[in-house]
Amino acid sequence: MSGQIPQRFIDDLLARVDVVEVVGERVKLKKAGRNHSGLCPFHQEKSPSFTVSADKQFYHCFGCGAHGNALRFLMEYDKLRFPEAVEQLAGRLGMEVPREGADDPRAQARERKRKEGVNLLELSASFYRERLKMPEGEAARRYLADRGLSPEVQQTFGIGCAPVGWEALKRHLSERGIAEAVQIEYGLLVHHEDSGRTYDRFRDRVMFPIRDIRGRTIAFGGRVLGDAKPKYLNSPETPVFHKGRELYGLFEARQAEARLERVVIVEGYMDVVALAQFGIRNAVATLGTSTSEDHLSRLFRMVGEVVFCFDGDRAGRQAAARALQTVLPQMIDGRQARFMFLPEGEDPDTLVRREGAEAFADRITCASPLSEFLFDHAAEGRDLATIEARERFASQVLSAIGKLPEGVLKSLLLGELSRRTGVDQSRFEALVRPREVPEVESSTPPEAERGDGVVSNPQQRPGKGRQALSLMARVLQLLVHDPRLVERLPEETDWYPREDPEARLCREVERLLRAGGYRSAQVLLAHFHGTPEGEWLAGLARRELLIPQGSRAAELDGLVEHFRRHRLRPSRQEEVDSLLSKQQRGERLSQEDRQRLMVLLADLKG
Ligand code: GTP
Ligand code: MN
Repeated sequence: MSGQIPQRFIDDLLARVDVVEVVGERVKLKKAGRNHSGLCPFHQEKSPSFTVSADKQFYHCFGCGAHGNALRFLMEYDKLRFPEAVEQLAGRLGMEVPREGADDPRAQARERKRKEGVNLLELSASFYRERLKMPEGEAARRYLADRGLSPEVQQTFGIGCAPVGWEALKRHLSERGIAEAVQIEYGLLVHHEDSGRTYDRFRDRVMFPIRDIRGRTIAFGGRVLGDAKPKYLNSPETPVFHKGRELYGLFEARQAEARLERVVIVEGYMDVVALAQFGIRNAVATLGTSTSEDHLSRLFRMVGEVVFCFDGDRAGRQAAARALQTVLPQMIDGRQARFMFLPEGEDPDTLVRREGAEAFADRITCASPLSEFLFDHAAEGRDLATIEARERFASQVLSAIGKLPEGVLKSLLLGELSRRTGVDQSRFEALVRPREVPEVESSTPPEAERGDGVVSNPQQRPGKGRQALSLMARVLQLLVHDPRLVERLPEETDWYPREDPEARLCREVERLLRAGGYRSAQVLLAHFHGTPEGEWLAGLARRELLIPQGSRAAELDGLVEHFRRHRLRPSRQEEVDSLLSKQQRGERLSQEDRQRLMVLLADLKG
């Protein structure tokens, strides 16, 4: 995008737009006194702590700390970059966004091109939709009806048809002043090298517009009405369309459910549309490619859970194995991936029509968690009664686990593998431990991983954007997000590390929570408000807790256990300190103590 947007334009824009309206279009708001309130779209909650102020023109969530003006909201909620959010707000007010120093001709040309392409594709989409209504759309209408697609769902997905002739779209676009070269560039027109002729790429097909996340048409998929080949034809790669990145139906899914939490990945256009017609409106399809890392990282930015749906045949199992490999590196805590297999000979389209929406929804609910599929897949075709098979089973599972980022899932899977093979977990841990990360159970004193609270921490993947939390900070984060977890903490406080400011704060938080009256994070944060601790806790509260509800207690137990072990095995420095102070107090050191002290001091100097 060219040029900087002048600040005065942004100020002007914010002065004209109403944040209540912008938020209200996406979140259900109720008037509460001078403000509006509703359920926060940025974190899970059952009672509203999200308020929008018309006077101050900002929103604020008392639960998670999300805060900002209309632009910020659009950026966070619609996942837009700043200039895109400005464009969107300006668009609704009919304002043109000015650019400072928009004199870079290359940037100008790029911008012109983008607009041109989008216009052209929108024009084509409405052309196809119109044709479907006209007499020439008769055959396509009949085809869609035969396949059982309701008029409503056809409209939701903007389905149309390309007429039979060679030049229908070309004429339509050319009459509107669009150069043939541009039509070719955006994949609508095919240039035949030998004859020099140009003709419509899509002819006599049902047309599915492929939209980007903001609903702009970026490409098309077209299906033949009969059995001719190729069955589906997609737009080629163009300046706005990259097949391996886009997901069919994602825009429509987000339109249907503002707080989309789960997405089902199916294979075909028809599957997405049929499921939507039956009320399962969160299905998306890759465009004839297998699911890529790009697809998954885009999805996981929007939802916490992805369900892969495959045919039950051999090809389906293979596709699932590939999907597993692709998703493993993305499984940071809090994300879920599950796998479902359909009966042979069925696809989601046929199945949902045959057994109904409820039965299909049940299948989604029952899809295997990643862990289950991983073990099943590794066990497939192996007789685990033999040592050799178990060895191969274990190494296949280990290589998968090795691809996982550090986190709860990894530990759980290692535990499960050890249970299934009877081999001690620590043996496996040594095998999958990433080299660039220090060990959890190393002999370095615990101080090395506490202190200022942001020291790199072995449980989190390094170099992943934000800084990792210390282990004690993670205990605090769990408590701040889920105060009821305080019940899990041991009654005895002897597990807390000594002389650690974070541990001190954590003990204080524990005390407050146990005393009752501080059942919600807000009240807890209010207690510390205005202090450095308060600021730090608020930071932890704002930070997304990437651990699913069901695993939090186990995570907390694990952390406490970790501290308990360290506590029982005092660090060298602590041991030295205690021996030295014994000596200073005039107590006699035993022969053994003195030898130990010498060894320790020599160690510390070295
Ligand atoms: P229907 O036969 O209409 O129900 O389609 P389907 O979605 O069941 O098709 P199928 O399972 O055969 O293919 C799944 C997806 O693969 C389609 O939606 C397309 O994206 C893609 N695909 C299938 N056939 C072709 C083809 O001939 N060419 C291309 N480029 N893609 C295809
Ligand atoms: Mn099908």
